[in-house]
Amino acid sequence: MTAILSSTIISLLLYFQNYLLVLTYGSYGFISKKVPCACSICVTDRENSNWFSERYDPNIPLLLNSTNGVLHANVSRWWKELQSSAGNYTEVVDQLFPLFPDKKHYSDAGPDRCRTCAVVGNSGNLLGSNYGPLIDFHDFVMRTNKGPTEGYEKDVGSKTTHRIVYPESAVDLDNSTHLVLFPFKILDIQWLISAFTTRHITQTYTKVPSTIKANKDKVMILHPEFIRYVYDNWAERHDRYPSTGFLSLIFALHICDEVNVFGFGATSDGIWHHYFDKTLTSYEISVHAGRFENETINRLQQENKILMHKGWT
Ligand SMILES: *[C@@H]1O[C@H](CO)[C@@H](O)[C@H](O)[C@H]1NC(C)=O
Ligand SMILES: *[C@@H]1O[C@H](CO)[C@@H](O)[C@H](O)[C@H]1NC(C)=O
Ligand SMILES: *[C@@H]1O[C@H](CO)[C@@H](O)[C@H](O)[C@H]1NC(C)=O
Ligand SMILES: *[C@@H]1O[C@H](CO)[C@@H](O)[C@H](O)[C@H]1NC(C)=O
Ligand SMILES: *[C@@H]1O[C@H](CO)[C@@H](O)[C@H](O)[C@H]1NC(C)=O
Repeated sequence: MTAILSSTIISLLLYFQNYLLVLTYGSYGFISKKVPCACSICVTDRENSNWFSERYDPNIPLLLNSTNGVLHANVSRWWKELQSSAGNYTEVVDQLFPLFPDKKHYSDAGPDRCRTCAVVGNSGNLLGSNYGPLIDFHDFVMRTNKGPTEGYEKDVGSKTTHRIVYPESAVDLDNSTHLVLFPFKILDIQWLISAFTTRHITQTYTKVPSTIKANKDKVMILHPEFIRYVYDNWAERHDRYPSTGFLSLIFALHICDEVNVFGFGATSDGIWHHYFDKTLTSYEISVHAGRFENETINRLQQENKILMHKGWT
């Protein structure tokens, strides 16, 4: 009874939130000719923001499969220099799809679909937020790297449909969670294969797990061309390559109709740390252009494409 009541309240809240946005951005909505999705506001409605349309490419390949793996020479050159490693890309990618599902993923966008997504970062601003139930209410809950749920359910929720990792940040997953590998080098793809077969790779630039618990039938690999696209169009070539959190957010814009963002940015007193440890993270000195990514994320919010939830603290 309490559960039903609280989920009703949450749906009302979510509905009300959208309603407010509709009011705020008045002209959009009921008179629109062709509705791109069934939510009250759709990410891919490209008519209402020139800034967004100039950057968003609905045709970019998102995830690798057996037919789209060949890279443009310029993408190939760039990607192979991010974190250089030996190995023949073509030969490695050829081993992927006998092993993992070979599909066209998430191409079901249309006027009848309203897929809501929560992109959950690892910021300390989640602590004390009580966002757990709100986060779990989404169709997809996408988490990055090691961010745990156990012990933090009240603030971060307990559901994880997608866990976005690279080998150095991988953790064991539930059987129902998609492992989404963001590859920054050929060795990362080799590690993925090894983790589900021979388990012989234990080292990249640091020690990595030789295997992880995860459902092989739910593995996905981000397309290198997508990483380049995010770098070019959304990070506007700031610094060397985008952060995992930023890539995840743009990924969500491509597979979801409504995107809510949690656990990004600093705490209200300006401190950058993870909610699950006290290690301070600095966005100024990393390879990622934290400041510019932050501005792009702020702009996405202004353009009504995402909704940021920054916590109460
Ligand atoms: C890479 O090459 C393709 C086709 O050759 C071109 O369409 C694309 O704009 C190029 N991308 C970059 C980043 O130069
Ligand atoms: C990678 O392997 C493919 C297929 O075995 C081969 O045709 C290609 O020349 C190799 N590329 C490099 C750079 O060695
Ligand atoms: C692979 O993905 C592309 C889009 O990047 C899609 O057009 C193609 O149908 C997919 N291939 C398979 C075998 O699912
Ligand atoms: C995990 O899910 C797969 C189907 O995706 C199923 O075949 C397998 O038995 C499940 N494993 C466990 C331990 O539940
Ligand atoms: C990110 O943007 C917010 C909102 O404008 C701002 O308060 C914050 O200082 C920015 N953080 C960084 C690291 O630039």
